[in-house]
Amino acid sequence: MRTVVITGGTRGIGGGLAARLRAQGDEVIAIGSADADLTSVRQAADLADRLPDRIDVLVFAAGRFGAQRVVTTEGFEQTFALYVLSRHLLAERLRPALEGAAQPVILNLCGTGGIPAGRIHWDDLQLTRGYSLLTATMQGARANDLMGVAFADRDPGSRIRYVLYNPLFVDSGIHRYFRQPTRALVGAAARLLGSSVETAARRLTDLLADPPSAPLTALRRGKPVPLTAPEFDPTAAARLDATLRRLIADVSI
Ligand SMILES: NC(=O)c1ccc[n+]([C@@H]2O[C@H](COP(=O)([O-])OP(=O)(O)OC[C@H]3O[C@@H](n4cnc5c(N)ncnc54)[C@H](OP(=O)(O)O)[C@@H]3O)[C@@H](O)[C@H]2O)c1
Repeated sequence: MRTVVITGGTRGIGGGLAARLRAQGDEVIAIGSADADLTSVRQAADLADRLPDRIDVLVFAAGRFGAQRVVTTEGFEQTFALYVLSRHLLAERLRPALEGAAQPVILNLCGTGGIPAGRIHWDDLQLTRGYSLLTATMQGARANDLMGVAFADRDPGSRIRYVLYNPLFVDSGIHRYFRQPTRALVGAAARLLGSSVETAARRLTDLLADPPSAPLTALRRGKPVPLTAPEFDPTAAARLDATLRRLIADVSI
């Protein structure tokens, strides 16, 4: 029986995956915002301390779109805090718990290989200028690609396999984050063009039954994304890693 931790495991894709894995006998710890508000670095650190000391699979599925720029009490832009800082912190803090498992995997649901837009705003990571939902989401997508590279580079001897996975459009109800008339359009497009949560969860369950053997893999709905793409630049990855460590340390946890 595997121990699986799923942030964002209370609904949407993470919720669908939690249900499937439980049904096949895994022990699943599903984290929603009521369990830990992962826009808070302190709460993310506290969550890491509360989790078991052996974890087989860590899934990052917590996400929230923000139409407006919101700053957390710790001074971070909310999308950056949830999508970037909490994932970096949990991956690093739970490294020892994962290393204790037989076949450890980090599965990071993100935007890898998707829209080739978006960049890291090195001089304004908190997007104080020109915030938009798309800018914040795409910066998060680029950051997660780099976090995967930095995680794998940090310990080349590690047995942990890090999988960046873009599920593409999934009808998980994300239209609720938008105002009308965009909400109705996104909802209709998701029903028409998106995968169902059940289908997305089945694909992920199959992936976790036979995970890739490389230290880092990027998949776009199962199709490999070449790690030679500029999004995976190791120099940028090391730079981001150092920046995130500094930001997290500054919260003094
Ligand atoms: N849906 C898509 O088309 C799509 C496409 C590409 C990538 N993705 C990625 O896949 C992941 C899952 O997406 P989804 O569509 O399943 O999202 P979703 O249906 O909106 O579910 C989001 C999950 O994140 C949790 N969450 C939100 N804010 C949180 C916070 N502050 N602290 C802790 N947990 C929080 C929610 O928990 P509560 O409800 O308990 O607050 C919920 O379990 C996201 O990372 C998203 O970027 C999705």
